[in-house]
Amino acid sequence: MEKRVFPALLVVDGCVRKNSRTRELMEAFSAAYRDAHPDHIVDTVCLAEENFSNITGETFKHHEALKKQGELDGPEFAQARRFAAADGIVVAAPMWELSFPAIVKTYIENISAPGVTFRYGEGDTGCIGCCKAKKLLFLTTRGGVYTGPASRLELGAYEWKALAEFFGIPHYACIFAEGTDLFPAEEVALHMEQAKKQAETAAQEW
Ligand SMILES: Cc1cc2nc3c(=O)[nH]c(=O)nc-3n(C[C@H](O)[C@H](O)[C@H](O)COP(=O)(O)O)c2cc1C
Repeated sequence: MEKRVFPALLVVDGCVRKNSRTRELMEAFSAAYRDAHPDHIVDTVCLAEENFSNITGETFKHHEALKKQGELDGPEFAQARRFAAADGIVVAAPMWELSFPAIVKTYIENISAPGVTFRYGEGDTGCIGCCKAKKLLFLTTRGGVYTGPASRLELGAYEWKALAEFFGIPHYACIFAEGTDLFPAEEVALHMEQAKKQAETAAQEW
């Protein structure tokens, strides 16, 4: 009998605070996704609980040597393989310093492995993405407002859009609530409700 392979969604939790609003969006998305796609696998990686290291010193040398030898099957590139193999990807992270917390950047360093998530020698940049996912959704909340005149200062959604393209993921979307540290509580609650509804709809239509 032919073995059925169910699509796998990778959810990357880059939230830091205990009562994270961004994680609320992620949880709304995940619950709606599980309801709408009960057969699919939902694989969640919580960055604050993982022990990723920045690629410096001996780690850098070690990774570079492995890449040079094409030895990409070890634990060093496990996160890259996990990211490359997912059918869809959701990343949730709040805005910190105009982009996202450093743990997310560390994660990006860890998944960026030539021969796993991208290849050299093709494409406009000299690299071409080789991830399986068709879609990447970025969920975020921002203390201030970045949809008006300050839109040029918003770097988190912008970076994930570029990374989706770099990794060969054709469809990108961002769902956000902003002004979370600026507006009165009732208004923030309203923005959060709207963002959660959008996240649920995105999950159902995934
Ligand atoms: C360390 C840190 C850095 C932040 N940097 C920004 C920023 O650059 N711009 C902004 O609008 N809000 C910033 N904020 C506010 C958060 O984006 C906002 O409170 C967000 O809703 C927090 O999401 P969370 O509840 O998921 O942690 C920052 C908050 C923290 C704790």
